[in-house]
Amino acid sequence: LQAVNVKGPLAGKKVIVTAGGTVERIDPVRYISNDSSGKMGFAIARAARAMGAEVTLIAARTDETPPQDPEITLIRVESAQSMLEAVTSRWAECDILIKAAAVADYRPMHSADSKIKKSGDTMTLELVKTTDILETLGKMKDGQFLVGFAAETGNAEYYAKDKLVRKNLDLIVANDVSTEGAGFGTDTNIVSIYDAGGLVLDLPLSSKDEVARRLLTLAAERISGVAL
Ligand code: CTP
Ligand code: CA
Repeated sequence: LQAVNVKGPLAGKKVIVTAGGTVERIDPVRYISNDSSGKMGFAIARAARAMGAEVTLIAARTDETPPQDPEITLIRVESAQSMLEAVTSRWAECDILIKAAAVADYRPMHSADSKIKKSGDTMTLELVKTTDILETLGKMKDGQFLVGFAAETGNAEYYAKDKLVRKNLDLIVANDVSTEGAGFGTDTNIVSIYDAGGLVLDLPLSSKDEVARRLLTLAAERISGVAL
């Protein structure tokens, strides 16, 4: 009965969150991935649920087990391509999409069906660019609120603003992953959030749960036009 009464600033809203690092297969036992732990995306999924949203969490490789909340729809994916398919097929029904996942920029041109045996002293792996998921969604926008992340190791503001414009985002969350307490694997983050007009919110060292709440509050305010 309690569930019926649950309301929140995101009640009735469909939120999609992507988390973790994509896995690009070289062969059945080897892959290319990155240091994303999944923690930021998981925190966003939990916070969105706590604010009343209907949440779909699309998770690639993560260090931790995703939230086991039956109210959060969990979809496991591996590659950038499978993440692209998972988000685009749900895009029409989405109100807010938050792309916390670290998507590989390149994948092996050929993925072998059986384990590659060693041979010569050197080996070359040919890589090909993956589709930019956010950029694709940015072009397909039809009222959805689109949020990207930019993990940088310097010049975070410059790169984040460039990505915001290039990918047609509503907000971008920039963090400098070379700063202690920010970025991959930690339970905390230091972020600056930008929109097309410039800096919206600077968050000092905060838990990823707190960053998630503040980010979702901003998104909720902007889609409703009401200050929370
Ligand atoms: N992203 C994506 N699809 C890709 C690559 C990135 O959707 N193929 C998304 C990420 O999920 C993130 C945002 O784009 O929300 C920024 O990712 P980032 O790696 O910082 O930006 P890139 O555009 O890939 O630029 P670069 O890696 O050169 O900094
Ligand atoms: Ca990238």
